[in-house]
Amino acid sequence: MQLFFGTVQCITFLAGIATLKARLWPLLITRMFLLTKKRARNGTREKRKQQKNNMTPIITLHQRAKQFNAKFPQILPLVVAENAGKPFLYGYWFLGGGKVTNFYGAYSNEYLRRVTTLFSGFKKVLHLFSGSLPPSPDYVRFGNDPTGQYKSDILGDAEQLSSVLNFHPDLIFADPPYTQEEAEEKYQISLCNGPKVVSECARVLQPGGYLIWLDTRLPVFSNDEIKHVGCISYIRSTSNRFRAICIFQKPY
Ligand SMILES: C[S@@+](CC[C@H](N)C(=O)[O-])C[C@H]1O[C@@H](n2cnc3c(N)ncnc32)[C@H](O)[C@@H]1O
Repeated sequence: MQLFFGTVQCITFLAGIATLKARLWPLLITRMFLLTKKRARNGTREKRKQQKNNMTPIITLHQRAKQFNAKFPQILPLVVAENAGKPFLYGYWFLGGGKVTNFYGAYSNEYLRRVTTLFSGFKKVLHLFSGSLPPSPDYVRFGNDPTGQYKSDILGDAEQLSSVLNFHPDLIFADPPYTQEEAEEKYQISLCNGPKVVSECARVLQPGGYLIWLDTRLPVFSNDEIKHVGCISYIRSTSNRFRAICIFQKPY
């Protein structure tokens, strides 16, 4: 008899659970679905946040030139055209006077204003051959001034950049001396090996990052390491030498 009642109780209990479960199933499934969706959404948000903080902004040269031309409507517009099937940016800047400091070869105020407008939105900016450039939270200065007048954030030889630098910039501005005579007379240093420095820049740059190299000639570079994607002819004033802002981009 006892066994009979025990069995009946057990069957009733199991039947109760089955009924409850049947009612709960849709609720459980909906809850699990919502939880999975929330986790996925949080993951994407986190990824976007990381991208925003660490990665090179993905803006094409066309878009950069367009934004620049809108901000400087009074000067000759920058042009982006197809060159062997790839976009190439070119232009002509007549800058006028006004330098950041009195150091020989110091950047022109207008050059910095224009070039930082064209290449805005970068998170890790390196000024190579920084010379007399003042400190700023917006960039890191790398250089060597044997005349002892100016300090950089990182003292080092540009030819050894990759073994000294402890981060990967997404934008490098480089302003090397142009000739052996100038390097020795004005900076008490030997002329650096341009192609070696360009190669070092390509090594440390983030994929998609830019190297903006100011010089009187186009440095030798390897197409496998970095691409030549633009050139802006640059002059301070009449009787000054022409310079070129050579624009390189590390492939993605
Ligand atoms: C043309 S000046 C740059 C001036 C800078 N744009 C400014 O606004 O003052 C070149 C600077 O690079 C430094 N320099 C030359 N060769 C170098 C090398 N191999 N490594 C690091 N710095 C170097 C020179 O001493 C000088 O200070």
